Amino acid sequence: RKHVFKITTGSAELDKILGGGIESMAITEAFGEFRTGKTQLSHTLSITAQLPDESKGYSGGKVIYVDSENTFRPERLRPIAARFNLEDECALENVLYTRSFNSEHQMELLDMVAGLFHQEAGIFKLLIIDSAIALFRVDFSGRGELADRQQKLAQYMARLQRLSEEFNVAVFITNQMTSDPGATMSFQADPKKPVGGNIMAHASTTRISLRKGRAETRIAKIYDSPDMPEAEAMFAITNGGVTD
Ligand code: GTP
Ligand code: MG
Repeated sequence: RKHVFKITTGSAELDKILGGGIESMAITEAFGEFRTGKTQLSHTLSITAQLPDESKGYSGGKVIYVDSENTFRPERLRPIAARFNLEDECALENVLYTRSFNSEHQMELLDMVAGLFHQEAGIFKLLIIDSAIALFRVDFSGRGELADRQQKLAQYMARLQRLSEEFNVAVFITNQMTSDPGATMSFQADPKKPVGGNIMAHASTTRISLRKGRAETRIAKIYDSPDMPEAEAMFAITNGGVTD
């Protein structure tokens, strides 16, 4: 039987509301406005996934990072690696990086991902897609294309879920926000929602909403979870990555 593991986010507070961290055999989605820390969280997880945790029987391992927005900065990984006492060259080598250029390409990349997971069984622990949805929005932006987009997105998310289960890896994806036109008519406190509607809501195992706090601080909240309390966690973005 496969043993579920959890990867630390670098913030004990955030780990706490996640029940220990980013879980394997599941999809964790982080969404929020620009600069809320989605990409910085992705960078931090690229390093923390490599950290073995003997007390939990976690060996640590390699990461695949799919970047649709060209915001991955390998140099950013160095100070994060240093914080966790990892040799930085080695830590960088353990992160396999690829850009995705359109939604079809992003889908095809999952063949490559599956191939690597298969070749080096048990070596890869984390798959990051930052952002999972941006290219689908671009490619299906026309009038009347929403249904197509949602269908493709559903296929994409289903494949991510299968990969996470088949190879026991954690999948971490980021998502954007949209203003909900209906909400402006009502008196909702938060009119903004994650993109992708029901498809994303059902496909993600755990959803984290992010918002800005003071200065470097950010506030995370578990969104719409049936079995987790709606607790908030405050974390900070530093040179060493995400921390309390
Ligand atoms: P979008 O992709 O634009 O939607 O935003 P995002 O949610 O991915 O935000 P991102 O993770 O890029 O967070 C950007 C924030 O991280 C900014 O406020 C930066 O100031 C901060 N940040 C990035 N790098 C560093 C760093 O090396 N040190 C510190 N202290 N902060 C950093
Ligand atoms: Mg980003």
